[in-house]
This record gives sequence, C-alpha cells and structure tokens, in this order.
Amino acid sequence: MCGIIGYVGHNLCIPKIIHGLENLEYRGYDSAGIAYVLNNKTKIIKEKGKISNLKKLLDFDTTTNLGIAHTRWATHGEANKINAHPHSLGKFTIVHNGIIENYSKLKQELENNGYVFKSETDTEVACALLDEIYKQEKDILKALNKVTKIFRGSYAFGIICSDDPNAIYALRCTSPLIVANSPDGNFIASDVPAILKYTNKYILLDDFDIAKLTKDNIIIYDEFLHETKKKVNTFSGTFESAAKNGYEHFMLKEIHEQDKVFKDTINFYFDGTIESLKKNFSFLKKYNKIDIVACGSAYHTGLVGKSLIENYVNIPVNVEVASEYRYKRCFYDYNTLVILVSQSGETADTLAALRKAKNDGITTMAIVNVVGSSIAREADHVIYIKAGCEIAVATTKAYLAQLAIFSLLTIYLGYQNKTISENELNIILDDLKKMPKLINDTIKNYNSYFNIADKIYKNKQIFFIGRGIDYALSMEGSLKLKEISYINSVAYQAGELKHGTISLITKNTPVIAIATDTKLIEKTISNIKETKARGAYVIYVSNEEPSEKFYDELIKIHKVHPILQSILTIVPLQLLAYKVAKNNGCDIDQPRNLAKSVTVE
Ligand code: AGP
Repeated sequence: MCGIIGYVGHNLCIPKIIHGLENLEYRGYDSAGIAYVLNNKTKIIKEKGKISNLKKLLDFDTTTNLGIAHTRWATHGEANKINAHPHSLGKFTIVHNGIIENYSKLKQELENNGYVFKSETDTEVACALLDEIYKQEKDILKALNKVTKIFRGSYAFGIICSDDPNAIYALRCTSPLIVANSPDGNFIASDVPAILKYTNKYILLDDFDIAKLTKDNIIIYDEFLHETKKKVNTFSGTFESAAKNGYEHFMLKEIHEQDKVFKDTINFYFDGTIESLKKNFSFLKKYNKIDIVACGSAYHTGLVGKSLIENYVNIPVNVEVASEYRYKRCFYDYNTLVILVSQSGETADTLAALRKAKNDGITTMAIVNVVGSSIAREADHVIYIKAGCEIAVATTKAYLAQLAIFSLLTIYLGYQNKTISENELNIILDDLKKMPKLINDTIKNYNSYFNIADKIYKNKQIFFIGRGIDYALSMEGSLKLKEISYINSVAYQAGELKHGTISLITKNTPVIAIATDTKLIEKTISNIKETKARGAYVIYVSNEEPSEKFYDELIKIHKVHPILQSILTIVPLQLLAYKVAKNNGCDIDQPRNLAKSVTVE
C-alpha cells in the first residue's frame, strides 16, 4: 500500500503536505514525491528512499497553495526515482495507491496511440489513459468517470489537471481515500493520520465517487456525476490508533487485510483462465526437481508448497532452511528449479542460498513481497506477492500471500503436466472464487479463537501436531505463538509424539491438533486420543465435523479444495497466537530480540 496526501487552501502547501506524508510513512517508504502548482505550472520533485530524502530537495517557503504527494510501497517496478510518484503525462499529474490489474493491456493500446512511458508503473499508464479520455471528453469530471469503467483493480488517485490548476481531483475504487475540510483549506489523504494535525473530521469517499477540492470548497459527485452529500466522520483516537486503522496492533490489522491481499495477489496473475497463468508463469519449464529455500515463516510456506506440488504435480520437492542450504552439498542440476521465498527480499541466508544456486548455473525463482529487493533483483525470475507493507514483525498477510502463490503454481504446473484434470481444475477454480469471502468469514469468527486463547494463555508450553500438510501448518502456528507470546511451543508430526515427546504431556497441557487432510484425519485422531489419555487439553482444528468428542475445543474451518485449504487453516492459528500474546501483555508488533528483516547471518 502507499500513502497519498493533497492540500489546496489559503496557506503554503508544502509544509502541510510533507507533515501529512510523514504520518503516512508506515504505509510505504521506498520512495516519495510531491507535485505542486506554481504560477499555473505543475512542478514535480521526487526521490528514492524515505521522505527525509525528498525533504532535502524542497524549499518549504515556495509560494504554492496546491499540491499532491505520495510515499510509495512498490508494486510495479523497482523502488527508484523514475518509478516514484507523482507521474505526469499530457495535462494530468497523479499519485496512486492500489493495483491496476489490466495495466499491461492498456499500456500496449496507449503506446500504439503514441504515448511514451518512462517508468515501469501501472500509475503512469493510468495517467496516460486519463489524458487520452480527457482529449475525447473535454471535461475532467466526465473523463474521470469514464476511466472508472475501464480500470480493473484497486485505486485511489490524487489528480491535478493543468486545465484547472486551482483544483485537486480525487477518485477511488477499493483503496481507501478521504477528503477533509480544515480551517485554512482542504485535504485528500489515504488515511486519517495524515490530517489529524489540522482536523479530525473527514469524509470517506465511496467507490467511484469523484471529489473536486478548491481552497474554499469540496464537491463530491457519485458515479452518475450527481453531486452528493456524504457523512462527516469524526476521528476520536490518537495518531497511533489511526495508523492502525483503529486496530490495537498492526498484526491484527494485517490479519484483517488477508482477504484483500489474497484477492490482490491471485488477481494479479490469474483472471480465471489458465491462459493468464500461462502468460505470467511462462518462464516455468518442465523441471524434474524443485528445491524450496527460505527462513522462518517463509520456510513454512515452502513445506506447504512441497506437499501441494508433490501431490498434485508429481515432482519431488526438497525444502531447506537457507542457513543450512547455503553451506551444504546440493544435488541439483539443470532440470532443477530453486525457489527462494522471502517477504523482505533481504534475508541474508536466503540471499546467500540464491547466489550459491546461481553460481552453480541453476535456475532460480523468487517469491517476494518487497519490489526491487535484493533477492527479487538477483533471482532469474520473480513472482511478487501483493501483500503491501507489512509492519508487524510476525508475518501474517505476507505468509498467506506466499501460500496463495504456491497454490497458483501448483494449479499451473499440475495443469501443464496434466496431473490436474479439467474436472478437478474447475472444482479448484470454483473454490478459488469463494476464498476472499471464506477468509473474511474465518477472520470474523475471531471471538471463538479468542475464547480458547483465554483458557490456555497461562500455560508454559503448548504443542501443535499435524500430519502431512497439517504438520507444515503446525510449524507456522507454533512459530507465531513463540514469536509474539514467548511461550515455549513445539510442533510435532502427530505420528512422532509417541516416540518420546509424549512424555512432556501432562494434565491440561494444550495440544492444538490440525487435521484437514481427509486421508490422514483418522490417524491424527488416534494420536490426539493418545495425548488426551495423558490429560492433554485438546484444541481440534479441522474442516470436517468430528463424529465423537475426543477434544476439549473445536475450531471448525470451511472445507475447500486441498490446494487452497491451508490458506484458511492458518487464520485461526494466527488469531489464537495474537490473543495469547495480548493476554500476556507482550509487545505484539515488535517482539523482543526480533527484526522484520534478518539481514545478518
Ligand atoms: C515470521 O513471522 C518471522 N518474523 C521470521 O521467521 C521471517 O519469516 C523470516 O525471518 C524470513 O523473513 P523473510 O520472509 O523476509 O525472508
């Protein structure tokens, strides 16, 4: 996600805009820029890196009273000056938060019409389209209204048109955008923190609303270009709570973003047709072996990826932690694909493993969140997840987005290798369409997970068990709990418990048992009963209604195709860990001893 702010009023705009932009830096900070109107000309200044780099280029006393600005979380194209916003083409200058999913098709059409693009961004394409439509409509409002019928995806725009230099226009679909009136002028912003110094009253635009701001006026038009009155909201919290969108912690906010993150990630590569996967994954040839290399939660997504690819693509998959892989003897060859998974794209061990494979001439592919990060740049191929800026150290939405990519890869490779039939593909695709709502429904059930957390949070050790893919989920559930609550938790293969570890089970020891793989559920239930016989407090997580009550608590999740199931299973485990940590008064977003990106060995 990115941060947008604009101001038009009776005072100098640069100091207000930059102050507001700094309060949006939590939304993204890989580059920043400002556009302001001076003597009826639009001037653009932008810079790579944090807003502090941009500030060095600005004269805060510039006598301009109208401007827009942007702090970027790169989704298209590296984090550099050229790709930084604002972008300008023809009569328009814009800043954008969101993803225009059909930008590449639009770009080709616009290039055929003579537009020349400097950046790799979808935003520059959006600007060109707006300029093209404006030439036809000769009316800014009509042009803005018309582009909403053409864009697919999510967007919030701040817009300056050189034919109307005393106004800022704003337009949104899915990405948030507010407008606000203050005593000395009017604002647009991605989020409330940007304007709290000047006013706590704001209007949240609805999808396809168009706002026109001048120094004394805000007019809002609905999607039929009828003027419309909107409810004025009053924000009563602090800046801190505003940055978290009202959630108590960034981790909770990011868990709640997972339905949108799933949709953004899937829709960026997949429009429902296999052709779109063929186009976006065309670099994937037929490999006879895959190595997945990562650390921490990213490694856990690799374990899920292994289970899916081996079961649905019939290719052997080896998953290793990067800190081991980088030093070990690797049995790979030119028919091996090495997949590096990394949210930050900067994890030192994962980067080293990538460089080792590349030095050995092995094809590498990265699954990364941060655009233009080292691992993304150095891998032969990169698939970006669309998780946006993840602030909490304990990953949730990025982890889920990585799972979504492994699901897509499995669908593509399985279909390509003819190990997934047309019939099964249709079943998978039907479930895929339901996923955002099912993720949201699972999140909304958070009270039931919180009630269970309230019963176990005082325990000094908590076990997770599962078989097959459910063991991979156990690993991630256990890491989430350890990371943020500091409780010693272990994940075990359910069948392994009786080979020693079961000696640790005493009365009321919590055992969180995950069973979603139909073929293995009965086996896992047998293992659960072994722990129950020794007094365990069993929390049973399953997508099937059990026929008997061998558990103390049941977390029932929706049943979807196994290629997608893990994406739902992880949500209760994230929320359980969150509430246990909250009950223990832990620093949930910045746990002790941890860092968001481990750039050292
Ligand atoms: C996840 O909650 C942890 N913060 C940690 O295990 C993390 O997944 C690991 O350090 C890998 O980070 P990366 O995905 O940025 O490479």
